[in-house]
Amino acid sequence: MLDALKQQPQDKILMLMQMFREDTRDGKIDLGVGVYKDPTGLTPVMRAIKAAEHRLWETETTKAYTGLAGDPAFAEALSGLILGPSADPARMSAIATPGGTGAIRQALELIRLAAPGATVWLSNPTWPNHPSIIRYLGMPMAEYRYFDAESRGVDAEGMLEDLARVERGDVVLLHGCCHNPTGANLTLAQWQAVIDLMLEKGAIPLIDIAYQGFGDGLEADAAATRLVVDKMPEVLVAASCSKNFGIYRERTGLLMAFGSPEGRAVAQGNLAFLNRQNYSFPPDHGARLVTMILTDPALRADWEAELEEVRNTMLGLRSQLAAELQRLSGSDRFAFIGAHRGMFSRIGASPEQVERLRTEHGIYMVGDSRLNIAGLNAETVPKLAEAIVAVGV
Ligand code: LMR
Repeated sequence: MLDALKQQPQDKILMLMQMFREDTRDGKIDLGVGVYKDPTGLTPVMRAIKAAEHRLWETETTKAYTGLAGDPAFAEALSGLILGPSADPARMSAIATPGGTGAIRQALELIRLAAPGATVWLSNPTWPNHPSIIRYLGMPMAEYRYFDAESRGVDAEGMLEDLARVERGDVVLLHGCCHNPTGANLTLAQWQAVIDLMLEKGAIPLIDIAYQGFGDGLEADAAATRLVVDKMPEVLVAASCSKNFGIYRERTGLLMAFGSPEGRAVAQGNLAFLNRQNYSFPPDHGARLVTMILTDPALRADWEAELEEVRNTMLGLRSQLAAELQRLSGSDRFAFIGAHRGMFSRIGASPEQVERLRTEHGIYMVGDSRLNIAGLNAETVPKLAEAIVAVGV
């Protein structure tokens, strides 16, 4: 049986991680996978997480199973953080999932159960694992324009033109904030136009929100998701705690489904069913830490303060890189780096230039020229800027 297996396509981001590890050159720079690194190159455990782990170690008396949907207190706390007053419990069903990817996977499985023929519309470009999972599940998919290669901003006109072809019941996958891989984001007015179009077409939004707090702040980054949940009758929201709580390997995520109060119990039952089919009970450790932090005022204040430091560090690196590129290139053509938000910016280098950055300069970024701003520090920014200009971007 095993002889019949064929090689699977490799994930571009994970492949790059491997290549970086195997590179023996001193001074190599990893701007590939989306992981925050402090100025010393470490991905730290956040202070509030350490404190919560300590407290949990002292107080946890059992590791027995939670509910199939995970601990309801986690769903309440995290949905409150993301949606504030928009998290209407009468409309919401939710399950804890293994990370944001688990939430996306379960959302897609829910869509396949409810509407097997529905097409899932993805931004071009999007996180490569989106189309990969959809293809694996055998679901129809289509793309809408998103990125304007010239301005490196959002092609809002193209996006609306393409979404005008959406059919009733189709699903539109949107990045709640900090678009991955481009760093270019819709304004709230543009979100409103997308909402109006989805309402007119009868489309269902699936929002992937994995970077809340990395763009313009916790509240601002959630504003678009709240608007969609408030304005639309049915919405799926897949959330990740990997980045903003720095608990990547704990696999902590939440899938929320908003619909009519009458349908809530059945939706909740289906979500729990999907957890049971795929892995039974969801992981609990990270969810418990997040719940503890969000419900304890002192821990929460400390977490918010540290997240704000992380966000400001990234904004500082963006300004430094944009200024350095302006100086070296003598032009404003890299100003978009300062305007992008979140961990990533797509800088618009060709695949050959990305390859040269890696082979000649030891700088690793994804082949579509997505660079992880959080992988930089004050010393590596000038090196990157020189290399970008040297390869002729
Ligand atoms: C990324 O886009 O780099 C992250 O979301 C990590 C991953 O799993 O790909």
